[in-house]
Amino acid sequence: MQCIELKKDFYYVGVIDHSLKVFDVAVRTDAGTSYNSYLLKTSAGNIVFEGNKGKYEGEYIEHLKKISPIEDIKYVFVSHTEPDHSGAIANLLELNPEITVVASSGALMNLEKIVRKPFKEMKMLPGAKLEIGGYHFDFVSGLMLHWPDVMFTYIEELKVLVSCDAFGAHFASDAILLSKEKDIEGYNKALVYYYDHIMAPFASYVIAACDRVEKLDISMICPGHGPVVDCRIHEQIEKYRELALKCLPNNDPNHVTIVYASAYGYTKGIANYLKKRFEEDGKKVSFYEIDALNYGEVKESIIKDIYSSGMLLLGSPTLVGDAICFFYDILSNIYWTVGQGKKASAFGDYGWSGEAVNNLSERLKQLKFKVIDGYRANFKLDEPQEKALEEYYGRLK
Ligand SMILES: Cc1cc2nc3c(=O)[nH]c(=O)nc-3n(C[C@H](O)[C@H](O)[C@H](O)COP(=O)(O)O)c2cc1C
Ligand SMILES: [Fe+2]
Ligand SMILES: [Fe+2]
Repeated sequence: MQCIELKKDFYYVGVIDHSLKVFDVAVRTDAGTSYNSYLLKTSAGNIVFEGNKGKYEGEYIEHLKKISPIEDIKYVFVSHTEPDHSGAIANLLELNPEITVVASSGALMNLEKIVRKPFKEMKMLPGAKLEIGGYHFDFVSGLMLHWPDVMFTYIEELKVLVSCDAFGAHFASDAILLSKEKDIEGYNKALVYYYDHIMAPFASYVIAACDRVEKLDISMICPGHGPVVDCRIHEQIEKYRELALKCLPNNDPNHVTIVYASAYGYTKGIANYLKKRFEEDGKKVSFYEIDALNYGEVKESIIKDIYSSGMLLLGSPTLVGDAICFFYDILSNIYWTVGQGKKASAFGDYGWSGEAVNNLSERLKQLKFKVIDGYRANFKLDEPQEKALEEYYGRLK
């Protein structure tokens, strides 16, 4: 592999892996990936940006050595400490214990637990500036893209933004530079897939980061994965913003989503009552009855409605000591970043033990919804239960 010079004295020293099929357990990678790292030669010592994955520590050191003796590396700037970028740092520090790690306080805290040996460190706050060997570095918060430790580095003289996972893609590109990559369609697909699977839960943070980054005069984005973005910079940032806007929760207080299931019609009766009452009060109600046959078809639409509504109501009878599995599947697609700020409640009918309502309420709390105590009815509603349902509606609205 070539370690190409991206700008004067600024080199690509990453590792490209065409064979990778699965990333972070749950993410498929049809186009492999790369673990990007960069080296800047300065008169006050050489600086490495981003580490590498532990698995590639040997190959990584060979790449660094092609550009600089390890003894000449004075600093490692760490943007994010997920082990795909930090795993190989322990080895680098072992080879040269004089290296100072420059990072956010969160990243240093994590790295101490990843390296498990003392090392020289320099803590930088977001918004801080640093000068080394005639180069000026601005530290830009990348909070929650996708870890709390993330901090980008902007190199003023080179107009380079080192962004780690943000603006990256699992896409092994031997071209290294986006301007030289031929499979742009494949790259775009990988970029969106990466966003959807890694960044989407943090849409509001992505928008905040785009706002910060857009103030900078950038000629090159150097991400942690995939090709170096040396063209269409503004487009790339705007694409990120667009993707984030698409999955930003809305919390419309006039929109209620009711999802229910019912074997014998009792829970259905409760759901219909709630729908009627909300509609009488002028709310828009997205209303779904789910079962084994239709769930697959309506799931996506349910999730969309949950994003946009200010309240979620889940109605499940108790079957075999719990709520029906589809409700847990729905909630496993909702991140806490979506749940927080929304009201939610569970209701449902039962025969003898009635666990569904409490179990769903607990799960909703774990997802940071503002949970309103649920409503349970036992078989056919009698008068007191009907009265209790009315009261329940009063607590919801
Ligand atoms: C397969 C099956 C399993 C059930 N298991 C439980 C249970 O574990 N605990 C309970 O309280 N009720 C249980 N029930 C009873 C239902 O919760 C009860 O019939 C309820 O009224 C159904 O409401 P629905 O008409 O909205 O489906 C079960 C019912 C069925 C059909
Ligand atoms: Fe990461
Ligand atoms: Fe990564």
